[in-house]
Amino acid sequence: MDIIVLCGGLSTERDVSKKSGALIARALRENGHRVALIDAFYGYTGEYDDPREIFDRPEDAAGAEITEEVPDLAALLASRKQNNASRVGDNLIEVCRAADIVFLGLHGADGEDGRLQAMFDIAGIRYTGSGHLGSACAMDKETAKKLMAAAGVNVAEGWNVNARDAEGSAPCLPCVVKPRSGGSSVGTSIARTQEEYAQALKLGFAYSDDLLVERYIQGREIGVGVLAGEALPPIEIRPKSGFFDYKNKYQDGATDEICPIPDLTRDLDEALRAAAVRVYDALGLEVYARMDFIVDGTGRIWCLEANTLPGMTPASLLPKEARAAGIGYNDLCERIIAESMKRF
Ligand SMILES: Nc1ncnc2c1ncn2[C@@H]1O[C@H](COP(=O)(O)OP(=O)(O)O)[C@@H](O)[C@H]1O
Ligand SMILES: [Mg+2]
Repeated sequence: MDIIVLCGGLSTERDVSKKSGALIARALRENGHRVALIDAFYGYTGEYDDPREIFDRPEDAAGAEITEEVPDLAALLASRKQNNASRVGDNLIEVCRAADIVFLGLHGADGEDGRLQAMFDIAGIRYTGSGHLGSACAMDKETAKKLMAAAGVNVAEGWNVNARDAEGSAPCLPCVVKPRSGGSSVGTSIARTQEEYAQALKLGFAYSDDLLVERYIQGREIGVGVLAGEALPPIEIRPKSGFFDYKNKYQDGATDEICPIPDLTRDLDEALRAAAVRVYDALGLEVYARMDFIVDGTGRIWCLEANTLPGMTPASLLPKEARAAGIGYNDLCERIIAESMKRF
């Protein structure tokens, strides 16, 4: 097939996405496809008579190392030569139309939040993963939590805090402050005192006017991927220090990620997998996703969120879970393509 892998985009998670995208593109080429890797933010700036030519001589988007710093999006916008208001680059729709399917290697806003999916649906472009509505419901953590709770899944008690009315003290302590539609823990912190709460709001508002404050749940952090409606083996996340923040997510060796989990009882394993599938169904997700959970000291399972385009570097959680289920990275990419094609 002729496949475009989209990565980058105007998202705080663009560096992570460029790493995912480069590896997805390599895997798909090894699987025998013709692949072009394109940064959605820059689009395709090469010359062509027919957009299909880009598969003959793909000019791959540059890969990126994931530094400890979150990318500066204002600087990125200012640096683009195309001086327009578009959040995607030139010729994106035209070249994507030339592909049999677009593999979404994007993470975060502009890719994971359903708007690109809606645009592609209207333009008649096939893409991988969930559709626009499921993507949007999962990206807005407040909406996602309502749907999860309605489906009988435990979610942390939470409060919405907007930049306009953000005075006063923490609704509870300790608490977690996070952007309502964020990802990769960008702008997220844990507050144990009123002073830390004030700091946490300040950090959060640097990324979003809408924050979610949640009761902090103490426990073991466990992710569960779902592929084509079936849960993968749960993976435990143990940062060596602090919580699972941006640095601990992407710096090598900062976090132990354990899959399969040796001491997981059969009951808990089954309950986690069932909760993951329940969330996947409640949000209307398709093809693949990864749900983040905390299991507290009493064994109660709490869902933090659903990720509709989870990290796809071989070191990422979902590929590790797939490997534990006997599905290698290249096969995982192929499976995602095949399952996504069924949607169209
Ligand atoms: N209510 C909570 N209680 C305890 N830890 C939390 C809670 N909410 C978030 N966290 C921590 O913050 C991290 C990021 O939060 P999450 O809701 O998964 O957002 P995202 O991964 O999209 O940034 C989690 O992996 C977890 O370590
Ligand atoms: Mg998460």
